[in-house]
Amino acid sequence: MTPLLAAVDLSKSYGARLALDGAALSVRAGEFVAVLGPSGAGKSTLFRCLTRLTEPDRGEVFIAGAPLHALRGRKLAQARRNIGVVFQQFNLIRRLSAIDNVLAGRLAGAPLWRVMARSFAAADEAIAIDALRQVDLGEHIDQRADTLSGGQQQRVAIARAIAQQSRIILADEPVASLDPDTAIAILTLLHGLTRSSNVAVVCSLHQPQLAERFADRILSMEAGRLS
Ligand SMILES: Nc1ncnc2c1ncn2[C@@H]1O[C@H](COP(=O)(O)OP(=O)(O)OP(=O)(O)O)[C@@H](O)[C@H]1O
Ligand SMILES: [Mg+2]
Repeated sequence: MTPLLAAVDLSKSYGARLALDGAALSVRAGEFVAVLGPSGAGKSTLFRCLTRLTEPDRGEVFIAGAPLHALRGRKLAQARRNIGVVFQQFNLIRRLSAIDNVLAGRLAGAPLWRVMARSFAAADEAIAIDALRQVDLGEHIDQRADTLSGGQQQRVAIARAIAQQSRIILADEPVASLDPDTAIAILTLLHGLTRSSNVAVVCSLHQPQLAERFADRILSMEAGRLS
């Protein structure tokens, strides 16, 4: 069966430092893959190269067999919509509310004024609200992102990826800012998507016990090498 997400020989250097060293990855639909590794090992670089938000020096990425590395411009943007990303630094738009951040992710590719002008379908809004409720932010839907606590911001970032309804979710330490109970609730939610919607999840974590509990497969990252 064609993997939903595959990477071959992905490499990225920053000056003399090889941050990603020939990483290969193959993830099936419905699979939850955890990536463990110390700080600086290259986990975020891997995630950024998988989406080509950082251009790798070398290597190939395939989504359901289609080469992402061969795409440019609008086609690349379209293909990227198959991948929901939870960024380690959240990457929220600070001055927008929680729901507008989620909508901006869902309507990716559309100009931001559509969100500001409330120019979107009621169905999109309903999906965004539902995603925020799933991460237990139903009380904070209209609150500005920069007034939310760190853990709440992290959950907005997760809701944004969920509301995108993509086939693949890359989550870069999505529970790093959460208390233990909330962390388990969020990983249960992401794991549930693999089972209910056949989403492929790749999730970097720092806690091996969480990886053991939720992942179908655990990969380790060490000095840029994935194994
Ligand atoms: N834009 C950049 N410029 C220079 N060096 C970078 C850049 N991005 C990452 N690096 C370096 O590449 C290496 C891998 O960084 P990366 O952020 O991928 O690690 P990580 O495994 O995600 O770490 P953490 O667990 O702390 O998030 C590090 O040594 C980092 O300093
Ligand atoms: Mg990182």
